[in-house]
Amino acid sequence: MKQEFLKYQAQTTPHPLAMEISHADGSYIYDTNKKAYLDFVAGVSACPLGHNHPKLKAAIQTQLNKYLHVMVYGEYVQKPAVELTKLLAKHLPYPLEKTYLTNSGTEAIEGALKLAKRATGRSEIIAANKAYHGNTMGAMSVMGYEERKQAFRPLLPDIKFIEFNNEPDLNYITNKTACVILETIQGGAGFIVPSNNYLQKVRLKCNETGTLLILDEIQPGVGRTGKLFGFEHYNCIPDILVTGKGLGGGLPIGAFTASGELMDLLQDNPKLGHITTFGGHPLIAASALATLQEITESNLIPKTLEKEKLFRKLLKHQLIQDIRGKGLMLALMLPSAEIANELVLESQNQGLILFWLLFEPKAVRITPPLTISEEEIIKGCTIISNILDDILAKQQH
Ligand SMILES: Cc1ncc(COP(=O)(O)O)c(C=O)c1O
Repeated sequence: MKQEFLKYQAQTTPHPLAMEISHADGSYIYDTNKKAYLDFVAGVSACPLGHNHPKLKAAIQTQLNKYLHVMVYGEYVQKPAVELTKLLAKHLPYPLEKTYLTNSGTEAIEGALKLAKRATGRSEIIAANKAYHGNTMGAMSVMGYEERKQAFRPLLPDIKFIEFNNEPDLNYITNKTACVILETIQGGAGFIVPSNNYLQKVRLKCNETGTLLILDEIQPGVGRTGKLFGFEHYNCIPDILVTGKGLGGGLPIGAFTASGELMDLLQDNPKLGHITTFGGHPLIAASALATLQEITESNLIPKTLEKEKLFRKLLKHQLIQDIRGKGLMLALMLPSAEIANELVLESQNQGLILFWLLFEPKAVRITPPLTISEEEIIKGCTIISNILDDILAKQQH
């Protein structure tokens, strides 16, 4: 099938990993040769409950037997979407109450940017260098990595970039700025956490200037950092929270949440300010609801921090210069891109799935399912250490 994959399915790089998947269960993915791979990536943070989770499957099957798509987003009352948005509100602080469900993270970012412009009547947007918010035109406009967007210009006008964690740059935020958009923890940049109360300082500056703060939690959200949402670590509540990825439990989703007052602006002036056919799809909402219920009702979130400790304890190696990130959103920092590549590729040979980060070639991501067991963590970390030992031994000869 690999030849047909390469011939008929559009690719994103000239060198996809091209593993042929048979099935997946728990923390393992199986290829068509019956080889098992321990999954330290979780579909790039999109499968917090691992694979084939019984509660998730049951929720999807129950909904499958009732109805699938019946109407475009927002017209009919569909229980899965109502219950999902209500449960989100229950777990979010004031004034985050009303959620718009989309089909992907990037689309939720588009909606959030539009809402900020509509609410403030301003056009300027401030984003961070090395930020990643998605790949549609608006989201790409706030991506802080010129090399990957140059070919697609012109993009949105009136966008300024600041350095994440740099306090003096906050002076760029003025009463002309519609919104500041930041990832709570910068993902593609190398899992950079906010330091020195950075997010609180951004919040204050936004308050002073009447600027809306959008936090993108598409990757850190839904329990991955040891809180349901990453911003809870930093004492900073956004005006618009964007989520996605793990929220769907493995099905495609995005969401942006704001106060009812703010969100209602999308209903009028102009009417239909943001519309979608499939957003809030009942099957996906049922999967997301079951995911959110499981994550908030189990001990998965507190366990995340214990698992982080275990990773940090086991991954002490001469070639690991730093482990960035928080909870089960960890990045191994290696001495070179070559070593990072070798680790990812050799791990796959040895039955462990690792992956790269978008803009930091020396980093290797570890974002396993939140359900991963201690034994599985030990097993995967042993594979990583052995591969790094071999790389080191080769270097020394
Ligand atoms: C922080 C962040 N924002 C936005 C996105 C885009 O989400 P999607 O791929 O669902 O469009 C991603 C996806 O990797 C992300 O990590």
